[in-house]
Parts: sequence; C-alpha cells; structure tokens
Amino acid sequence: GGKGRLIVVSNRVALPEQTATGGLASAMRVALQERGGLWFGWSGKVARQSGGEVHRVSDDAVDYATIDLSRADHDDFYDGFANRTLWPLLHYRPDLVDYDRRHLAGYLRVNNLFAEHLMPLIAPDDTVWINDYHLIPLAAMLRDRGLHNRIGFFLHTPLPAAGLLIALPHHRELLETLSSYDLVGVQTARDRRALEEYFLHEVGAVMRRDGRLRTPGGRRFQAEAFPIGIDTRHVADSASHAHEHEEIDQLKQSLEGRALIIGVDRLDYSKGLPERFQAYARLLERSPQLHRHVTFLQIAPPSRGGVPEYQQIRRELERSAGHINGLYAAPDWAPIRYVNNSFPHSLLSGYYRTARVGLVTPLRDGMNLVAKEYVASQDPENPGVLVLSRFAGAAQELVDALLVNPADTEEVAEALGVALTMPLHERRTRWRRMMDVLEKQDVTAWRNAFLHRLDG
Ligand code: UDP
Ligand code: G6P
Repeated sequence: GGKGRLIVVSNRVALPEQTATGGLASAMRVALQERGGLWFGWSGKVARQSGGEVHRVSDDAVDYATIDLSRADHDDFYDGFANRTLWPLLHYRPDLVDYDRRHLAGYLRVNNLFAEHLMPLIAPDDTVWINDYHLIPLAAMLRDRGLHNRIGFFLHTPLPAAGLLIALPHHRELLETLSSYDLVGVQTARDRRALEEYFLHEVGAVMRRDGRLRTPGGRRFQAEAFPIGIDTRHVADSASHAHEHEEIDQLKQSLEGRALIIGVDRLDYSKGLPERFQAYARLLERSPQLHRHVTFLQIAPPSRGGVPEYQQIRRELERSAGHINGLYAAPDWAPIRYVNNSFPHSLLSGYYRTARVGLVTPLRDGMNLVAKEYVASQDPENPGVLVLSRFAGAAQELVDALLVNPADTEEVAEALGVALTMPLHERRTRWRRMMDVLEKQDVTAWRNAFLHRLDG
C-alpha cells in the first residue's frame, strides 16, 4: 500500500515557523516533515464565517491546508464539546464534564465542515490519518460522502474504561463512529483494552479471529496501541548544542550553583500542577538543608483560556506559587520560578539539560512527551533524574524513572529528595536504560508502525 499521498488531519496544525505547544503538533510536525504529505486542520483563527477559503502554504515537504472557524463554531466545537465535554471525560474527570446539546451540535457542524473541505483534496490512492478527540466522527462523515480510502485514527489522549465513557450522554452515537476507520490507534495497552471493552459490552461488537472488531452493523476495524515517541536523536543533538544559546547561559548563571528542578506543561488541570507545587512545598518543609540550594522552574504556557476550568486553574496556581514563595523565600532566593510563557524546542532542550530533576506529574496523560524530551536532553556523562507520574502513558515505557502517584504529596516529596541526592552511577544506569527505549521507539518508528498497519 501507500502509493498515494499521506493526508494528516487534526484540529491543531503546526504551521511553519510556529512554536507548536502540544504533543500532537510536536510529534506530527516531525512525522510529516520526514515523509511529506498534506496537513489539514484549523487555521487557529476565528473569522467572520467558518470555512470560507482554504488557506494553503507549503514548505519543503509538507503542504498545509487550513480553514478558519466562526466565533460560534469555535466556541461550541473547540471551547465547548471538545474541551469542556470530551477532554475532561477522557482524562478521568467526569466531575468537570459539562454537557450541552448546542456544543454537541457545533462539534458535529465543524466535523461536517472539515469533511466538506477535505473531500475534494483526497485522491483515490491517498491514505488519510485523522487525529484526536476533536474529530472522532470525521471518518463516518467522509464515508457518507462516498470515500473508500484507507482511513486511520489516532487518539492522543487516554481512553477511560467503558464504565466512565457511558457517563457521556448519547455516547454510543459518537463512539460507534470509530468503526468507520480501518485502524484506531491509542497510546497504551490499557487504552486499547478500554476501547475493546466498550465495543464488546456497549456496542455489542464481536472480536474476530484476525483480532479485528466487528460491529452489529457489519463494520470491521482494528484497535491497536502505538505509543508515540519523540525525535530522540534531534532532541539529544539540540540539547548538546544548547549552551550556544544566550538564554541557557543566563539560566545557568542565575542559578549560582543551585540544583534545578524543572516542569514544562500546558496550563491544564490534567497536569497535576497544584499537587506538584504542594509536593515541592512539602520537600522544603521537611528538608531545611535544601533551602537556598534548590530552585523549581515551572514553565506553564496558558492553554484554552476560553474554558472556565482553565481560568480557574490559572488563578489557583498564581495563588499557590505566591504562597510558597512567600513562605520560604529569602532576600536572595525564590524557591519557585513560575513562567506563563511558551518556548521553542531549541531552548527547552537546554533548560531540560540544565535541570538535575525533571518533574512530570500529570494526574492523567495520554503519553507526555515532555518526560521523553527531558530524558533525551540529558548529558550522558552527568544525567539528571526523571520523576514521573504512573498515570502518564510514558510510565509504561520509562520504567527506570522514579515513578510516583501524583496525588501522594509525601511520595512525590520523597522522590524529589531521592532524585536530588542520587549517586552518579545510578543516574547513569537509569538514564541509559530509558534512552535505549527512546532511541528504539522514536517518532519515526511510531509513524511507520501506524502507517504500516493502516496501509498493509
Ligand atoms: N512545548 C513547547 N514549548 C513550551 C511548552 C511545551 O514546545 O513552552 C511542547 C513540548 O516540548 C512537548 C509538547 O509541547 O513537545 C507537549 O506535549 P506533551 O505530550 O507533554 O503534553 P500535551 O501538551 O500534548 O498535553
Ligand atoms: C493535547 C491534545 C492535542 C492538542 C494539544 C494542545 O496534546 O491531545 O490535540 O493539540 O493538547 O492543545 P490545543 O487545545 O492548544 O490544541
């Protein structure tokens, strides 16, 4: 297979020259740059009306085609059903799920709009790869318009068990459309089991001998785990040259020999940031000898600011960072540096390498590429330590990190203490094992595995 072009579809598109904050855009950018193809999605702009003209730009390997959304479509589809209903549901937060029929209508409207504008761009031999929870029903809408191409779907988030998924009103109408894909990829074996369980018990599908699911309506599709990776070689190279950037030198100077703990996350309630701040405060409380000898840098670019829960978590973190600094700071030392800005990968890799500890503690995360980037950025001679939540998909692969339950303040504080004092030989051994995994399962291997399965 694979004679035609690869067409990637996602709501968020990493346009040339833009900082792509978010795992999907980071990974897809590399995956598509190497192979070439077309990337279709939202322009990132709100305009007077949805659709309108398709914006086309190209760089060496990739053609980009994007469309604008109207204010109403953006609010109902993106702020609404995608990020107030599906995102909390998929991240095991039914308490935050806000269901509104108008938002669902907007979600279906925008998926239809995508189908309408995408259809004329697809040639008969092309392979179509649709990404993430914004676009679940898109294949069904393309099939309704007569498309017979191979269509794959990859879910970048976790997929919770059926018992939770059924909390979504009309869940079956939405989730059963996944059977219009030929292949549905998820991050981990647990996510795959959840998907199978949902189709077997809620949809009444059966498992065929060849491992595919068959729905009562006769659709057949394959569900499989493909843990997403990073461009390991490139990240490592870029980290080893990072000292050439003035910003990295400035960070180092400002530390004055203190050990750095780093966190890098979109400002999202799924990332466990309040719990992380608490754990760091607990570390300071129980280890006075660390005062003035450790600095915690949290980079947290604001995300989805139109959604109330994101406004609230932002306020909460401002309070918490201020509170902890107020409690422990000295005239010449602030324990937390809290930065609401995004940075390009070239700088992040240098920041990661400067940090003795990478602190990655989401309550739930599909994969978490920051954990992988932190490891790949380390100096092999003197690597730092990764403290990682068991509830990130990455914990399935990075078993040599210090794995923690992010809700357990005491456990995370303890792990930080262990990380800060870990002897060099142990740091090296753990790092080497993790790096072996990242070198083997990089983003290229991920893309190839998915496309091989889809086209093969
Ligand atoms: N990122 C970035 N600049 C920033 C913060 C984050 O480029 O200032 C990137 C980060 O390097 C990573 C991605 O955004 O590649 C975040 O992916 P992850 O899987 O960790 O979390 P997500 O944001 O997708 O939930
Ligand atoms: C996660 C989602 C992506 C999304 C990214 C950034 O990685 O899985 O689909 O693009 O977060 O969020 P945003 O809402 O800015 O696209």
